[in-house]
Amino acid sequence: MKGRDLLWLADYSTEEIWAILETAKTMKERFYSGERVIPVLSGRTLAMIFQKPSTRTRVSFEVAMYQLGGHALYLGWRELQLGRGETIADTARVLSRYVDGIMARVYGQETVEELARYADVPVINGLSDLVHPVQALSDMYTLWEKKHRLEGLKLAYVGDGASNVAHSLILAGSKLGLHVAVASPRAHRPRKEILRLAEEAAEATGAVIEVLEDPLEAVRGADAVYTDVWVSMGQEAEREKKIRELEPYRVTPSLMEHAKRDAVFMHCLPAHRGEEVVDEVIDGRWSIVWDQAENRLHTQKAVLALLLR
Ligand code: CP
Ligand code: NVA
Repeated sequence: MKGRDLLWLADYSTEEIWAILETAKTMKERFYSGERVIPVLSGRTLAMIFQKPSTRTRVSFEVAMYQLGGHALYLGWRELQLGRGETIADTARVLSRYVDGIMARVYGQETVEELARYADVPVINGLSDLVHPVQALSDMYTLWEKKHRLEGLKLAYVGDGASNVAHSLILAGSKLGLHVAVASPRAHRPRKEILRLAEEAAEATGAVIEVLEDPLEAVRGADAVYTDVWVSMGQEAEREKKIRELEPYRVTPSLMEHAKRDAVFMHCLPAHRGEEVVDEVIDGRWSIVWDQAENRLHTQKAVLALLLR
């Protein structure tokens, strides 16, 4: 995987995804056995470009680079010359002369793809409007850690089926043989392109990808129930309309009761408590959201070690 970009999971094979998850497990075990620094990226630098806000992605990537013996630079889009019209291509060419990898959080997927086209170093997608691959990798690792398997698990995703997180979970699930049941209103179904790629991958792995309208049907017998915010970054103008349409998709204790008895509740965070999920669920016995957030660190250490070494 050395030298590869990570723009979305459609480009990664089942074996490669498993290699990342296995490495994440090793990273976490070594961290807890006292090895705070595993200096495989000593002397290496990661540039982190942000067009949108972030808590988890920013901090976990920066700490990950530090714990791998390297260094990370936070670069706000508007503070770069990009904000004054320097092209993405020129920025990618110049950064490639200084750093060993670029992580970018952007609006359009085409922006991260353009960065990758012109950069000579690996480019990692830290969220675009279309996908959030490092989140899904980390979530798969968390599910594997909790359930000790991935194949055949039922993951119910309830809410905005066209969110970047939903798309990446569908792609990851299809590569790893999960049963992913998405429940969303018709207007917010996953994009066709994502479903087509997932169906293709599912043929080889035995994954099942279902798109439904009824949240109860999606959650029935699920091992994990997942939701994301109803209004993603950049969609503020559609806020009222989306909230109205997604109202029946709130994750409540009574919805959770339809899942398996030992089902877990997952959320990429940040959560809008009272909208897509209520306090009794996110703070309740089902919730594994803090472990999920922590695992971003271990999983991204794996990604960085494999791609940038
Ligand atoms: N889940 C996630 O990517 O969080 P941030 O927006 O805080 O980075
Ligand atoms: N779908 C959300 C995810 C945040 C991590 C957003 O794009 O805002």
